[in-house]
Amino acid sequence: MTIRAPKGTDDILAPASRTWRRMLRIWDQITERFGYDLIITPLFEATELFSRGSGEDTEIVQKQMYTFTDKGGRSLTLRPEATPSVMRAHQQAAGSGVRKAASWGPMFRYERPQAGRRRQFHQLDVEYLGTDSPLADAEVIELGYRYLNAIGLDTVIVTINSIGDPVCRPAYQELLKEYLRAREDQLCDDSRQRIDTNPLRVLDCKICKPLLGDAPTPVDHLCDACLAHYRSVKETLGVVGVPFAEDRHLVRGLDYYTRTAFEYIVSDLDAAQNAVGGGGRYDGLSESIGGPAIPGVGLALGLDRIVLALGESVEDGALDAFVVVADEQVRTEAIRLVSDLRSKGFRIDYDADERSVKAQFKAASRREAPKVVVVGDEWHRGAVTARDMATGDQREVPVGEVSEWLR
Ligand code: HAM
Repeated sequence: MTIRAPKGTDDILAPASRTWRRMLRIWDQITERFGYDLIITPLFEATELFSRGSGEDTEIVQKQMYTFTDKGGRSLTLRPEATPSVMRAHQQAAGSGVRKAASWGPMFRYERPQAGRRRQFHQLDVEYLGTDSPLADAEVIELGYRYLNAIGLDTVIVTINSIGDPVCRPAYQELLKEYLRAREDQLCDDSRQRIDTNPLRVLDCKICKPLLGDAPTPVDHLCDACLAHYRSVKETLGVVGVPFAEDRHLVRGLDYYTRTAFEYIVSDLDAAQNAVGGGGRYDGLSESIGGPAIPGVGLALGLDRIVLALGESVEDGALDAFVVVADEQVRTEAIRLVSDLRSKGFRIDYDADERSVKAQFKAASRREAPKVVVVGDEWHRGAVTARDMATGDQREVPVGEVSEWLR
């Protein structure tokens, strides 16, 4: 029996992986431009980090964690998200002041697999730690929006909300609970259970939404400080020209959020998977995992969902040229030419299997090489034959001018 990849996981191969490479390259450029350093944290962590960080009341912790005991008897968990890890790393490095950290990598959640909902999926992530300024919230939201535009998703809608903080939320929650209790028998099972444990989550329940049109919402019950913060986030988004829509029912699936919550929605994706990313502020997270008070705000974008939203995206081929060896006598020279062109920054390949010229040309077109450089007899005259595969145009080019011709 052949062994297959585990359920809910994907192999990402060429040509699809070319889109991934482009997405990662642009991520690197944009985060660097916004002043975020690269951070790399372990793929597994002490289970407690997530049960306390992501939150006991979340679906992630209750149902979706890949938890195992290692040979030393420790309970470890494959990370379901990056945020608690980044905060832990910052604490562990005795970080003080501001840290702006960008990363990407696989995350693991035991989900019912479908398109855009995988058990191993991939996130791009930034976390801006050490400031409670609303300018940081706006910057993070802008970064995600610029990235999605740069990658070619121009139909993204940014939705934002404020869900308050420990000062104003408790009183609001009591109000919401009262409202929900009065409609208890109409709510779905999950929502009914959440009335006491996590009433906010009921607000964005897809099943119950139609019933909750007149429910009290967090933005209408913010304290002065939260209201001022929210106003400033919106004003700053206006200043930098990021369009957004306010969604009073937007609450997110993680327990640590305070004040700002936001998502990036792509309307042409199936409603269950239409959020290609999201994030928010989490001023209490650091303390909930046992550290000092460190405010923070961040976002994560789902690469797998972005790829779905992009649809059949046409990437450029992976090569600038393919080198064909037409004469065994000059194979060594051809290999040297390949090496030289690669050093100059061109994407070059050739056939290592010493096959016929015809087979090598076939390989060149299979690899979608736009140009072919034939190294043959003419080498002795200091030239190669250069063919443009699109036009069929073919000519002799002096060896010293090959880079010129490739450009
Ligand atoms: P999240 O909303 O759980 O937030 O995930 C962010 C994005 O990851 C989602 O919008 C979605 O695109 C993608 N995603 C989540 N689960 C899956 C899955 N099973 N399959 C495919 N894609 C998925 C967080 O993870 C927070 N850590 C974001 C954050 C950073 N908040 C503050 N800082």
